[in-house]
Amino acid sequence: MGLFSTIARTTLFKMDAENAHALTISGLKVAQGSTFMPGCSNDKYPQLRTNVAGLDFPNPLGMAAGFDKNGEVPDALMKMGFGYAEIGTVTPKPQTGNPRPRIFRLIDDEAVINRLGFNNKGHGGVLDNLNARRGSGIVGVNIGANKDSDDFIRDYELGIKKFWPVADYFTANISSPNTPGLRNLQAKESLAHLLKHICDVRDELAASSDRNPPLFLKIAPDLNENEMDDIAENVLASTIDGLVISNTTLARNMLRETTQESGGLSGRPLFEISTIVLAKMRQRLGGELPIIGVGGIDSAQSAWEKIEAGANLLQLYTAMIYQGPTLVNTICSELADKLSTSGHANITALSGTKTQQWAAKSLPSGLQ
Ligand SMILES: Cc1cc2nc3c(=O)[nH]c(=O)nc-3n(C[C@H](O)[C@H](O)[C@H](O)COP(=O)(O)O)c2cc1C
Repeated sequence: MGLFSTIARTTLFKMDAENAHALTISGLKVAQGSTFMPGCSNDKYPQLRTNVAGLDFPNPLGMAAGFDKNGEVPDALMKMGFGYAEIGTVTPKPQTGNPRPRIFRLIDDEAVINRLGFNNKGHGGVLDNLNARRGSGIVGVNIGANKDSDDFIRDYELGIKKFWPVADYFTANISSPNTPGLRNLQAKESLAHLLKHICDVRDELAASSDRNPPLFLKIAPDLNENEMDDIAENVLASTIDGLVISNTTLARNMLRETTQESGGLSGRPLFEISTIVLAKMRQRLGGELPIIGVGGIDSAQSAWEKIEAGANLLQLYTAMIYQGPTLVNTICSELADKLSTSGHANITALSGTKTQQWAAKSLPSGLQ
């Protein structure tokens, strides 16, 4: 970490985690609007370019959902070096989310627990932000359901329709632990219904438009083998374009610190469980379906291992809280070096080379 990042981290860590986040977003908004934002190209390493689901990514590392919930700073994230940004989760109506405090740092574990509950400006406010963008990098829109919705599936439909003109891809997030009932959509029959419906909506819109943004599904890491079987069966029977694995975990048994806070755990302790689930899903789905690997990536080594386990693209969030924005370029530059020396021509060639080893591990959450 550079001197600037060390000073920035010390200052931000003295603040409540959510206030620190708000300050970071405000700073990035100012920087994004200025022509002088110091930054780096996200396309510096040609060997990191990759095509996934028909999209050309300048590098495989994206910002995960939840950092830019309202689509305010995607272009600043691209200038930071991210190959793409996933904004949201966005719900049809604006929501304030759960009572504060609701984000907690676990410093010894380099982890975070959040129980935000989809606080966001709603479809209208977020669409205005995306329409005001000046940049052109890849932005995925992560869609969800309002807490008080009486029809969760309809909320996903509304999200696809609303953001169709601007989204480069969609992620249907059915795995946040902080909206009661949402994860039930992962259960066999509900998931079949959801996938059929959202894929039909996508196909109808594509038929009457010159766009066809791919549609991904984001799942939890807290799944046993039977639940993974059911999800894989449904995914293979559908025309969904890929998976995002994974969201935060409810498990706590891998933590050094003790905490009573409820919510989803992210960061370093999530790496093992999310990577094992990724590999187990890769085995079930075969090599073709794109998977975005997310959970605990905090270095080029962990990014590398996530790709070896079967990821085609990557995302991170929590590690940036601990290591600052220079982490993005550090990971990309070291990944590029590792690719050059490893003999793998590109990310695609590396992807899945250790799926078997990862999939053979037992889940640290104790789920079977
Ligand atoms: C504060 C916070 C808010 C988040 N909000 C969302 C969200 O709105 N939608 C979503 O799909 N994931 C959300 N996530 C989960 C991340 O996208 C990601 O899946 C998870 O944090 C694992 O990655 P990481 O270990 O690199 O942070 C959030 C994570 C954090 C830490």
